[in-house]
Amino acid sequence: MKFLIHRPRRLRQNARLRALVRETELNAGDFIMPYFVCEGARVKKPVVSMPGVFQMSVDELVKDCRETQKLGIGGVILFGIPAKKDEKASGAYAQDGIVQRAVRELREKVRDIVVVTDVCLCEYMSHGHCGIVSKARGKEFVIENDATLELLAMTAISHARAGADIIAPSDMMDGRVAAIRRALDAEGLTQAPIMSYAAKFASSFYGPFRDAAQSPPQFGDRRSYQMDFANAEEALREVALDIEEGADIVMVKPALGYLDLVWRVKQKFGYPTAVYNVSGEYSMLKAAAKNGWLDGKAVALEMLTGFKRAGADIIVTYWAKDAARWLEE
Ligand code: PBG
Repeated sequence: MKFLIHRPRRLRQNARLRALVRETELNAGDFIMPYFVCEGARVKKPVVSMPGVFQMSVDELVKDCRETQKLGIGGVILFGIPAKKDEKASGAYAQDGIVQRAVRELREKVRDIVVVTDVCLCEYMSHGHCGIVSKARGKEFVIENDATLELLAMTAISHARAGADIIAPSDMMDGRVAAIRRALDAEGLTQAPIMSYAAKFASSFYGPFRDAAQSPPQFGDRRSYQMDFANAEEALREVALDIEEGADIVMVKPALGYLDLVWRVKQKFGYPTAVYNVSGEYSMLKAAAKNGWLDGKAVALEMLTGFKRAGADIIVTYWAKDAARWLEE
């Protein structure tokens, strides 16, 4: 055994050699930190199912985003919790809606950070669905795809006008990227990029998010618009459609159980690819770490590196701030 030619362990002997040959390097600049913005002032309310995550009023958001910016994190994504919800999601596209105000404040007070806005209606609808709901014979309810597109387009325009850098539709209606692109262009907002939640699956990992954003559906579920988690070929078709419709960045969501798709999407399309490390994925590790069952920091960094190794250019994660600090150590 003395004359083994191949000894991969030669390059694992010490930290210097390992660093020299490391293939994947995480950077704070790859991360997007999600925020839940609510009404009021000096509000910073913990989300029980997501330790370390808060609902914040705009003033607190500005303070927090300053820290996020200093840590070198690439961007933030905003979700709004409006004071009132109704059946046409008025709060989603109101000029003085919660997200629109938050974007304007961030634009003015925090420089050098990419501000992404999630475009969806579920947080603003009294029934908690991502589209307009109507009754249909023989069915519990239907989601009106094409009528919903108009509201999504209005929402996107209002975000871009407020100064959002990237518009991120997460509703999963058919044709929404095209509808939003057309609407933005018609308003002269041709420079606003679209990051589409292209392959978004109907996942039980979104549970804690729906607490945070106060957006669980009041009846039924989202399986008539979000994808069946058993389908990969269909996910690739969804991504192809969104690219054809004008998406600039495509996303796969959730992350952990879906890295086959991150890989395939990156390989097949070569587009800037984002992955969303969702609420439930965050909460389960937080819980295990709190119990002393897992090393939270080590596992989080291992997971995040895995996303990047699989092909993600952008990682939307609630770990963004923690991870950025750990990377500085
Ligand atoms: C809005 C939206 C959701 C998430 C992002 N945008 C919830 C959902 O679709 O039910 C989930 C994010 C997370 O779980 O962290 N439609």
